[in-house]
Amino acid sequence: MNKILVTGGTGYIGSHTVVELMEAGYEVIIIDSLASSDKSVLEGIEKIIGEKPQFKKIDLCDIKKCRTFFEDNLDIDAIIHFAAYKSVIESITNPLKYYQNNLNSLMNLLVVMKEKNLNNLVFSSSATVYGDANELPVTEKSPLKKATCAYGETKQICEDIISSFVKSDLGFSTIALRYFNPIGAHFSIEIGESPIGIPANLVPFVTQTGIGLRKELQVFGGNYDTPDGTCIRDYIHVVDLARAHVCAVKRLISKNKKGVEIFNLGTGEGNSVLDVIHSFERVSGKKLSFRITERRDGDIETSFADTRLANKTLNWKTKSSLDDAMKTAWQWEQKIAKGKNL
Ligand SMILES: NC(=O)c1ccc[n+]([C@@H]2O[C@H](COP(=O)([O-])OP(=O)(O)OC[C@H]3O[C@@H](n4cnc5c(N)ncnc54)[C@H](O)[C@@H]3O)[C@@H](O)[C@H]2O)c1
Repeated sequence: MNKILVTGGTGYIGSHTVVELMEAGYEVIIIDSLASSDKSVLEGIEKIIGEKPQFKKIDLCDIKKCRTFFEDNLDIDAIIHFAAYKSVIESITNPLKYYQNNLNSLMNLLVVMKEKNLNNLVFSSSATVYGDANELPVTEKSPLKKATCAYGETKQICEDIISSFVKSDLGFSTIALRYFNPIGAHFSIEIGESPIGIPANLVPFVTQTGIGLRKELQVFGGNYDTPDGTCIRDYIHVVDLARAHVCAVKRLISKNKKGVEIFNLGTGEGNSVLDVIHSFERVSGKKLSFRITERRDGDIETSFADTRLANKTLNWKTKSSLDDAMKTAWQWEQKIAKGKNL
């Protein structure tokens, strides 16, 4: 049985990936600092799989603790590195927090991987690296634009660090996955997205408005050059995204292909903010309170992925529709509310 280390494995995408890995028969060990997630996620995973993954509370910025961890886990076959801070807005007000955490955690991981001769890494990147792409759909060859926030910069710099490191260490294999917009929750509704504070992403804001936690949703800009005037993104069900990580790990371990490969992960389809709202209204049977306001600085009009490379090379395809994803997101929000007796 191959053993996979998942950093950030109690987070949103990490926890869904842990489930898919365990279901596929991998042994999983999680490292997470719990800076932006809760240990109770492990119970959610246990309810789905019937067993808890191994877990170590470690901040990857602490290289001593990383070293000690790897001393005891030299038999790891591949690492999926999710651990990072991810809020675009917070990274504008507190950029150092982002540089310090997202860059140091990756660098420490690479240093220790090199020391221990561990060679397989999947890295969580983001479509933010493309900025406002010149051509749609966005392919992996689309030029990267200067990032408009520290979070986006950290993803670009991390990709650069990995690519320089790989050139210096010819035994190293990496797959960088550029996610478009992950949404939804596991179909069991045992795990899902649990943002801390005011959600920075659209879908948790929609569901929190639907449940009554927020008064109304602001739609930033209704006069874009799109069919309904609102921004378009590529929303991918988190379980589809998680499955792609299993394919990536399989490829790293079986093909032993050195260097860096990059894949876009999306559905290949664009949906507008109003499409998301209408989908929510369809699956919940509720009217959503929303108001179209001024455009927000830095927002890109349209972004969706060309996914052909991932479809072919990773032998992976998305299965879920926008409505499937919105339905699970809404069920998850209702479950959280029930737990809090709202
Ligand atoms: N969710 C998205 O919309 C999205 C889009 C593109 C890329 N990504 C990237 O995917 C990855 C996972 O995102 P997510 O949505 O699951 O985020 P998340 O915040 O839910 O999970 C990240 C996890 O990493 C942990 N973590 C952060 N810094 C750490 C450190 N120094 N040491 C150990 N653990 C640490 C957090 O506690 C958290 O559990 C991140 O790298 C993120 O940048 C996310």
